[in-house]
Amino acid sequence: MKSPEGIAADMIPTGRPSLGAEELNAIKEVLESGMIVQGPKVAAFEKAFAEYVGVKNAVAVNSGTAALHVALIAVGVKPGKEVVVPPITFIATASTVLMCGGQPTFADVEKDLYTMDPRDAKKALSPRTKVIIPVHLYGQAADMDPLLELAREKGLVVLEDAAQAHGAVYKGRKAGSMGDAACFSFYATKTMTTAEGGMVVTNDDEIARKCRLLRDHGQESKYEHVILGYNYRMTEVAAALGLVQLKRLDNFITRRRQNAAILTNGLSGIGSVTPPVEGPDRLHTYYQYILRLEQDFPCSREDLINKLGAEGIASKPSYPVPLYRQKALKGKVRARKCKVAEEVLPRLLELPVHPLVPRNGLETAVAVIRSTAGQ
Ligand SMILES: Cc1ncc(COP(=O)(O)O)c(C=O)c1O
Repeated sequence: MKSPEGIAADMIPTGRPSLGAEELNAIKEVLESGMIVQGPKVAAFEKAFAEYVGVKNAVAVNSGTAALHVALIAVGVKPGKEVVVPPITFIATASTVLMCGGQPTFADVEKDLYTMDPRDAKKALSPRTKVIIPVHLYGQAADMDPLLELAREKGLVVLEDAAQAHGAVYKGRKAGSMGDAACFSFYATKTMTTAEGGMVVTNDDEIARKCRLLRDHGQESKYEHVILGYNYRMTEVAAALGLVQLKRLDNFITRRRQNAAILTNGLSGIGSVTPPVEGPDRLHTYYQYILRLEQDFPCSREDLINKLGAEGIASKPSYPVPLYRQKALKGKVRARKCKVAEEVLPRLLELPVHPLVPRNGLETAVAVIRSTAGQ
């Protein structure tokens, strides 16, 4: 048996979904009903998710990538338009811009938070800029107020990429409720899952209407296609899973925060490692626990991964390179060198923090890192 990311069963993996009897029963009920494609469960999941985030509309789709794709089209990204994205994120944040014919460009991240630096976002703007996508990275919201202010000043759209930040909070507001629209992912290792799935949320009825059309071949009613669209529909099976997982979400977050606190307390006082920082007025949900090894850490990241692995703890680098260096994006983006991302990425390390990590696994991780650091 392997975890969703292919890690052997005797290791504590960096990601593992928490699925139990309630999820099993919910799926069974859908299968027995015979109604397995987009229907009442999807509608109920959309309603519950919109309420949770605190927005008017939610549109369920079959991945976070699909959510970004339809949302970007709905807000008007097309050839000739630029979209500002951060260099530390999953490729879908930028590839979906290209899928619309737009061009991604990059704004650097803040050193300790790893989310988009609003000062560099301002520098990244051009007369063609249409949208800013702050990514709420690793479970923590980007610094939204200055980004929203910048967008207001320049007449830009803010699309939150909240794929990693279900339940995260910024100044009392939930991730996904602050921009013109936001996108979530329910991939297997996300803080809550539908196996694969995604959601667009927005207070804007017109954006929501366009997303609904785009996910279903532009159908307004059966076989009446008013625009060209896609098949990005969510299944009833996925929505049934989502309804159960959403009920459990706050408990998942509590567990992740408790696990993160054990790691951070255990690692405190080691000068050569920097645990994740919870920014001011934020609630970090620790979708990922990302440690930074400083220049004076006595061994390489690879060696530390091997030492942790020998004790049954999986760990892995975060994204390998700033996104603009990915082969698939070469020549297609307006590259801007992002100094902070270049500097921190080779030193970031993900440790397991999900709700199924046992306490002794956290303690072992701390002990291995402390002893490697000579503490
Ligand atoms: C920041 C970010 N954006 C977008 C996505 C895309 O979501 P999905 O994998 O559900 O297509 C992901 C998830 O992997 C992500 O982490």
